[in-house]
Amino acid sequence: MINPQTIWYNWEKNLVETIDQRYLPFRYLILEIRTLEDARFAITEMVVRGAPLIGVTAAYGMYLAACNYSGDDFYEEMLRAAEWLKSSRPTAVNLAFAVNEALSVISEKCTTTQNKQQLFVFAETLKQREIEFSKKIGMYGLELIKATSKSKKSNPVQILTHCNAGRLATIELGTATAPVYLAHQAGIPVHVWVDETRPRNQGARLTAWELAEAGIPYTIIPDNTGGHLMQHNMVDMVIVGSDRTTLNGNVANKIGTYLKALAAADNGIPFYVALPSTSIDWNLNDGFTEIPIEQRDGREVSMMEGLLDNQVHEFRIIPEKSPIANYGFDVTPARLVTGLITERGICKAIREDILNLFPEKK
Ligand code: MRU
Repeated sequence: MINPQTIWYNWEKNLVETIDQRYLPFRYLILEIRTLEDARFAITEMVVRGAPLIGVTAAYGMYLAACNYSGDDFYEEMLRAAEWLKSSRPTAVNLAFAVNEALSVISEKCTTTQNKQQLFVFAETLKQREIEFSKKIGMYGLELIKATSKSKKSNPVQILTHCNAGRLATIELGTATAPVYLAHQAGIPVHVWVDETRPRNQGARLTAWELAEAGIPYTIIPDNTGGHLMQHNMVDMVIVGSDRTTLNGNVANKIGTYLKALAAADNGIPFYVALPSTSIDWNLNDGFTEIPIEQRDGREVSMMEGLLDNQVHEFRIIPEKSPIANYGFDVTPARLVTGLITERGICKAIREDILNLFPEKK
């Protein structure tokens, strides 16, 4: 049975379980996370991925670190665990946010048992918060789709998305896909152009899998196709997620997002970024020089996985020993972003408007 959530605490086994995204869409497997090491492995190896899910996994990781520690330096151990987790994937700010918040709920004055309890409550609360954020993002984004549907001569509303900012990247519903799910449920005809998203193909493998599960019409396109579709009036809006958005509205997201934003601007197509506030970096302004851009293993570029005779195989698709550059993310400048769809509403990608929605961050 497909679990409606991406991560959960299994009370019978006393451990955390998650969908192992490395094997989708070919196999649906669950991975058990028992320790801090397991949690870090899940994040670095992309068993879990997507900014909000990385954050929640790290929160559970902090809890598991506490559960498995029996020494006398509990607080020191938690600080060490926090730093180690934070170094697992650098770009998504949700990771540092979750780990720092986890540290803030424990205290040297409390007993280890109390601290463990606090960490567990925090992980569960963060998870619930992300679920709520996705729902709210969906509700606000739905209004955009409704308005587009009304103003169009013919349906469906055509939405292009990049990478996977769907339910697998969050806990439920996703960010970029949340408005799409709600529009589909409301009976508004929608169709999603799914960028395959080389090199790991999160679009072709994961977003397509999710949309198929939900019965939402979609078409997978090679990454280079979006511009052509936009020139031929085949895209009404672009909605993507974000791993880290700075206070002045610059958006770090999966590599290739910037090119889609450029093409959208050139064709007068609205380009929206759907993100929870946990993906906003309140300490950064510019982002171009400050956001750490993850560089991943060249094997993601040189090797391709696929199904042959019902078996999963890995193939090399480039000349042997070719030099490879594999940047995981790029930064889209705020001027190319039509709006940010957050859990508090939609705003322009500018400092004043972001802070108007989140006045407590002023
Ligand atoms: O490297 P990944 O697969 O973790 O990258 C994910 C993305 O870029 C998503 O678009 C982003 O995390 C938004 S998640 C709702």
